Amino acid sequence: MKENIKPATGRLGVLVVGVGGAVSTTLITGTLAARKGLTKAIGSITQMAKIKMKHGEEKLIKDVVPLTDLNDIAFGGWDIFPDNAYEAAQVAQVLKNSDLDLVKDELENIKPMPAAFDHNWAKRLNGTYIKQAATRWELVEQIRQDIRNFKADNQCNRVVMLWAASTEIYIPLSEEHNSLQALEKAMKENNTTVISPSMCYAYAALSEGAPFVMGAPNLCVDIPAMWELAEKTRIPIAGKDFKSGQTLMKTVLAPMFKTRMLGVSGWFSTNILGNRDGEVLDEPENFKTKEVSKLSVIDSIFEPEKYPDLYKEVYHKVRINYYPPRKDNKEAWDNIDIFGWMGYPMEIKVNFLCRDSILAAPIALDLVLFSDLALRADMYGIQTWLSFFCKSPMHDSEHEPVHDLFTQWRMVKQTIRSLVGEEAPDYLD
Ligand SMILES: NC(=O)c1ccc[n+]([C@@H]2O[C@H](COP(=O)([O-])OP(=O)(O)OC[C@H]3O[C@@H](n4cnc5c(N)ncnc54)[C@H](O)[C@@H]3O)[C@@H](O)[C@H]2O)c1
Repeated sequence: MKENIKPATGRLGVLVVGVGGAVSTTLITGTLAARKGLTKAIGSITQMAKIKMKHGEEKLIKDVVPLTDLNDIAFGGWDIFPDNAYEAAQVAQVLKNSDLDLVKDELENIKPMPAAFDHNWAKRLNGTYIKQAATRWELVEQIRQDIRNFKADNQCNRVVMLWAASTEIYIPLSEEHNSLQALEKAMKENNTTVISPSMCYAYAALSEGAPFVMGAPNLCVDIPAMWELAEKTRIPIAGKDFKSGQTLMKTVLAPMFKTRMLGVSGWFSTNILGNRDGEVLDEPENFKTKEVSKLSVIDSIFEPEKYPDLYKEVYHKVRINYYPPRKDNKEAWDNIDIFGWMGYPMEIKVNFLCRDSILAAPIALDLVLFSDLALRADMYGIQTWLSFFCKSPMHDSEHEPVHDLFTQWRMVKQTIRSLVGEEAPDYLD
């Protein structure tokens, strides 16, 4: 019920890890410009989408549940380079200078705090603006202090932390991740091979009462120890990996084949991109994290165990190629080998010339605003209803992830309606 959701009063601090990156600076610039009425928040569900209520009337989501107004957001964060958001956005080269200049003063005022960084976790990066700490536990303490300082300096009464920093190397789940006690012990013992910098940020956020959103495919909060912490502190966690372009397409096309009972024998996805993210992912250990995230999608949609005649042997391959001339303007190709009546083969080619950060920025905004809503509605732990925004949706060990975009959208609508005691309309939703 609406009365059980705390109102969105006061300011919301949005602390972005990787605040100088392409996604972050695009998110911040667009949000600042939108709140001045200089642009529209295109692509944002929280700002533009409508849902049907029980009696068929359509309402903007932001009129159904109390979301933080864009005017009440204060941005801050951390980066491994000291550039302010205006300078960093110029390096990222996503937006034109004429667009950055619309909010130049505000961007210049967003100066990063020194990062919790470890070169071994992102080998292509050489950070210069980083925290010194004897242990991972000490890093957590420093980040917690940063959060408190930011809150006080910017008169925020709530904070959400968003990871929009580089993808870390792939690590499997290990026993140190299986309980909060083991995780804390490993942090105190400075076990740097199993405790990533992103885990330090997440631990600090959850301990300071801030929801944590993981925009990269990092293991980070996707471990039982963090679920335990989120339950204990009653804080929402969401992730992983923004579902922005190629995977978005995949989670629309795959349900179409399945609904039409068309078979698939192979799916080859490749792309070229030349931004810093592409450079980091050029390192095999970092690419592996992304590959696992991207590969997880189609099996759960096709359910080959239920439809062996159609999807038993889908050859699925994903490649990412670092190609500097393209910068943030990714070009993606998908070749899908399908088969139909009497097994006759057909091919589909998708060529998406997209802009990675233009697609990711509204997703990041929505994840932040919905996580803040979840906090005020006392919905804690993994926010499965936010799977809609994620390539690799988090789920606990008892549940399967949901990848189909339209099923995910239904989960968003159902959650919003149930928060205000509304039911779905009993006809087409
Ligand atoms: N753009 C998309 O469509 C998209 C989609 C899904 C996921 N992602 C993920 O979002 C993240 C950001 O993407 P991007 O294109 O903005 O990358 P980017 O390289 O432009 O930005 C990342 C920023 O993080 C900083 N950084 C790295 N490690 C850090 C640390 N430990 N602490 C603080 N800052 C740190 C870097 O200096 C950089 O400024 C990446 O992990 C990417 O894989 C992006």
